[in-house]
Amino acid sequence: MSAHGKTPRRAGTETPRRGRTAAGAAAAAHGGGAADGSARGERRAAAAAAAAGLRLRVRAVRQADLPAVIALDATVTGLHKADYWQRVYRRYGVAGQGLRHFLVAEASEGKAARAAATICGFVIGEVRDWEFGSPPCGWVFAIDVDPRVRQAGVGTALLAAVRERFERVGVDRLRTMLARDNTLLLSFFRAQGLTAGRLIPLETEIGPGTAGGAGAGSPAAAGGSAR
Ligand SMILES: CC(C)(COP(=O)(O)OP(=O)(O)OC[C@H]1O[C@@H](n2cnc3c(N)ncnc32)[C@H](O)[C@@H]1OP(=O)(O)O)[C@@H](O)C(=O)NCCC(=O)NCCS
Repeated sequence: MSAHGKTPRRAGTETPRRGRTAAGAAAAAHGGGAADGSARGERRAAAAAAAAGLRLRVRAVRQADLPAVIALDATVTGLHKADYWQRVYRRYGVAGQGLRHFLVAEASEGKAARAAATICGFVIGEVRDWEFGSPPCGWVFAIDVDPRVRQAGVGTALLAAVRERFERVGVDRLRTMLARDNTLLLSFFRAQGLTAGRLIPLETEIGPGTAGGAGAGSPAAAGGSAR
């Protein structure tokens, strides 16, 4: 179903009344049709959009979007994290211009230019420099599309938009992380050209009662440190 209750044939981006679509912006940034990943992704999203009844626009989040973002996140995670989202908004929305990005996809149906728009997806990312000895790169750490409008190019448009913002500041690598059993996200990112990178995540439980926690004895007894 679409955000308005109908099943989209195949949604996607449409040129907004002002400005450019994410697809158009990325294509322009690459000479209007360079055959790189960003332009390809944008063209795919635009093609998907063209076949659907949805008008799609990717833009920076606003305070008024937060209830919709919180509700959308809750449909995926099952958790209603209002405080968390207020913090994310302060860090990536209001104060995030330049290196931190919190973008939403806004969809409206029909031909009426002033048709009511619905938030149908979001993406959050930031440029981080010299983490793990790595030159500045763009991290995408959250992306969600309303289940009612999935497989219609919205996710592609969101990723292309944040990718284009990373490229604007000279970043030449995009990274993300996902749960290994999240095959949906893996398929999506794979389709966007991402493959396994050179970094691997490592983790351990910490705190009282865990191997490295208070009272567990020396680090050596607990298995040693990373060095
Ligand atoms: C992953 C997600 C963002 C994709 O959004 P979307 O709008 O459906 O993606 P698109 O329509 O742009 O799809 C792009 C490509 O991704 C892949 N893809 C998308 N949905 C897929 C599915 N259900 N199965 C397999 N591949 C899929 C396809 O290759 C697709 O290209 P195609 O349509 O040409 O085959 C969306 O499904 C989602 O929000 N899932 C939940 C994400 C999540 O777990 N978030 C929490 C952690 S951050």
